[in-house]
Amino acid sequence: PAPFYLDCDTGIDDALALAYLLASPHADVRGIGSVSGNVSAAVGARNTLDLLQLAGHAHIPVALGSHDPLAGSFQGGAPHVHGTNGIGEVSLTTAAAALAPETAPEMLVRLAHEHPGTLKVLAIGPLTNIAEALRLDPELPQLVDEITIMGGAALAPGNITRVAEANIANDPEAAAVVLSADWKITLVPLDVTMANVLEESHRQELLASTEAVPLALGEMLGYYFRFYEGIYGRACSAMHDPLAAALAVGAVSAAVAPVVRVEVDTSSGPGRGQTICELRGLYMDYPEQPGARCRVVLSLTDDFAPHLVETLLSFSAESTT
Ligand code: BDR
Ligand code: CA
Repeated sequence: PAPFYLDCDTGIDDALALAYLLASPHADVRGIGSVSGNVSAAVGARNTLDLLQLAGHAHIPVALGSHDPLAGSFQGGAPHVHGTNGIGEVSLTTAAAALAPETAPEMLVRLAHEHPGTLKVLAIGPLTNIAEALRLDPELPQLVDEITIMGGAALAPGNITRVAEANIANDPEAAAVVLSADWKITLVPLDVTMANVLEESHRQELLASTEAVPLALGEMLGYYFRFYEGIYGRACSAMHDPLAAALAVGAVSAAVAPVVRVEVDTSSGPGRGQTICELRGLYMDYPEQPGARCRVVLSLTDDFAPHLVETLLSFSAESTT
């Protein structure tokens, strides 16, 4: 399995992505950084520690990351989507483990040096920690194998403004730094995450599990489904972060995923936080642009939900430490 650094704002779908990575035979999670997004960085770190304990992976270090974006300040998160505690008001036993004695950007830089050329980065929150890690060590792009980012909206509408997705909108300056760095990037935008949903029947499969982790995830999803019912008109939800995790480990395949140049709007106008993707090549013969390094996943070859549920249900006491 590949060594992974996970950067997250845990978050219901972040919790699913974390559990997916822990259950995946293709990933070895070496460290997790927390960033403000769905909840504050501190609350997200608490949720992450508690989930790791529930999963029997309390040995994985969790580092506190940035509370505020590069410009401005944390706006209070998304309690209407994820609950006031970030995990759908589900109560987990408080973990005994303490936070790591390093910041999240420091952890990322350390892991990149410990695993040169092989570390995979999965970023499923605002990109503040990743931008700060690039400032700490400008060689980071040469050390990291690849970075997968859940964020942005290529051709789809935004979910925070008309054009901006939450992870990018919460720190556009950081996203601009990360998306313009010279590394192999896969962007997993709303175009594909909103099109791949988890249904109530899938949630019931998780709730029928005798394992604590799938059961807790099924309970959290009850809260998430109520928010998404207002969008889809039925009990189901988008699968943003776990889909990015599955693409990062290579367990699902993209159907349409052009490698293009992506710019982030950092203006203060209505476009702030938009990911402007050079997609003219989709419908005309358009030459590759300088700086085209970002693989933008627009669709999948297969339905994602059955794979996600199967992987989460494979979580068992035997597979944990
Ligand atoms: C993204 O924003 C957060 O609310 C989710 O956890 C996901 O990472 C979706 O826009
Ligand atoms: Ca997230």
